[in-house]
Amino acid sequence: MSAQGQPISGKTVAEHNSRQSCWIIVHGHVYDVTEFLDEHPGGSKIILKYAGKDATQEYEPIHPPNAISDNLPKEKCLGPVDMGTVQKVEVKITDEEKARLARVEARPSLSEILNLHDFEAIAKLVMPEKAWAYYSSASDDEITNRENHAAYHRLWFRPRVLRDVTHVDWSTRILGHQTTMPVYITATALGKLGHPDGELNLTRSAAKHGVIQMIPTLASCSFDEIVDAAQPNQVQFLQLYVNKDREVTKRIVQHAEKRGIKALFITVDAPQLGRREKDMRMKFEADDPHEVSKSGDKVDRSQGAAKAITGFIDPGLKWSDIPWFQSITKMPLILKGVQTWEDALEAYDRGLAGVVLSNHGGRQLDFARSGIEVLVEVVEKLKEKRGVTLPNERFQVFVDGGVRRATDVLKAIALGATAVGVGRPFLYAFSAYGQDGVDKALQILHDEFEMNLRLLGANTLKDVVPDMVDTSNIHSHVVAVPGDRLYDNNYESMQTARLREIKAKL
Ligand SMILES: Cc1cc2nc3c(=O)[nH]c(=O)nc-3n(C[C@H](O)[C@H](O)[C@H](O)COP(=O)(O)O)c2cc1C
Repeated sequence: MSAQGQPISGKTVAEHNSRQSCWIIVHGHVYDVTEFLDEHPGGSKIILKYAGKDATQEYEPIHPPNAISDNLPKEKCLGPVDMGTVQKVEVKITDEEKARLARVEARPSLSEILNLHDFEAIAKLVMPEKAWAYYSSASDDEITNRENHAAYHRLWFRPRVLRDVTHVDWSTRILGHQTTMPVYITATALGKLGHPDGELNLTRSAAKHGVIQMIPTLASCSFDEIVDAAQPNQVQFLQLYVNKDREVTKRIVQHAEKRGIKALFITVDAPQLGRREKDMRMKFEADDPHEVSKSGDKVDRSQGAAKAITGFIDPGLKWSDIPWFQSITKMPLILKGVQTWEDALEAYDRGLAGVVLSNHGGRQLDFARSGIEVLVEVVEKLKEKRGVTLPNERFQVFVDGGVRRATDVLKAIALGATAVGVGRPFLYAFSAYGQDGVDKALQILHDEFEMNLRLLGANTLKDVVPDMVDTSNIHSHVVAVPGDRLYDNNYESMQTARLREIKAKL
């Protein structure tokens, strides 16, 4: 607000267009980011491109809605701008962007999409490069990312025959809530990178198909927007990154409970973000390699934008914090990112409602084992040491990572999981086709469940029992040769450092 209580004019903002005084507009508000330039994990260059201008379009897909106000001191939020006086930012369409848009036009129709791998193949071709890098990347050499999917190839079925499978039903309950399939949409950050409607594509499609959506802490759409988009009685869970400031966490949790969220999944595998090098390389290439900060130091942003939005996560989170969570909410608490039977049993002993055996889609510790492999030992030890058999109402075990087929899901169900989480396939589906893509992905899973239940000789998920899966090879970490061609074709190999383009003629 100007001194006279009027919105700030676009002309005034435009005067602050340099490194010495840099104002930008985001969502109709003016921010003085001069002192933040060197701290911006995405680099100062990208902010300076919008100095004195409206940066909303660039900002929106890659930041949670309140990232800017959370990261700047209050006095740097200068107030609303008179949008009528703001000059439109001209977006130059590069040749690469033109080529990408042509590929978007050439997408196959949804009727030609036959499985979840297809979405990944098309998304890779039609998504903006940065968005693809963020969604597809995983940590270090991405061994765990590939293993997540490959682990399912080491489990084989022992189907039963001559059972009347005229009627099959794959609906079930997750934490007491009805779902049409044993799959939930897991939390994945920054939905607007892939599509302008971001996470709302998932909310709407989840409603249509009767499945449960887990809302991420770092959604591109605001939490309330996602809850408002839900149908009456639509079940949603919340994924929680725990803030160093516990008051902030308490506010988020209690607000979620008030808004009707049915369970809280506390992420425990991310005290620090994994190095996702594909994503990091994108940032470097977009930036000035010779950039130095005002203090004259070379700017180090080796952790990329992921660090920016996750700097608040508390690496000090520990088991003894659990009673505090239990004291601030009545929602069931589930730990997301458990990777050993020891921690699963600890969660059980502490009265938690369940665990997700997950390695964050291979984005955290590389060489962490797949959730499906960990499930085998968790089932065994829960029985041996606590006399608990799965599936179990009081303590529910979930798995995520690499699930691409209903057969993958049915293997997890047979072994004792209540349900599985699916992440990237839904991101790729809406990035390529919006909500229609997510609808199609869920329909494909429904069709696969119907066929595979019949072929297994099971009428309901209760009939999908441990004896139907041969687990004898699960702990052998040798990837089948030649692997899964569908998946391998989509997988983008790691890239090494490259020489810079030589501009001047030698
Ligand atoms: C792009 C992307 C963003 C993610 N963001 C989060 C997040 O904010 N919080 C979280 O707990 N897990 C996050 N995850 C991990 C997922 O919840 C889930 O564990 C993983 O995606 C499952 O593997 P899949 O993608 O192979 O299905 C993210 C995964 C991806 C691919």
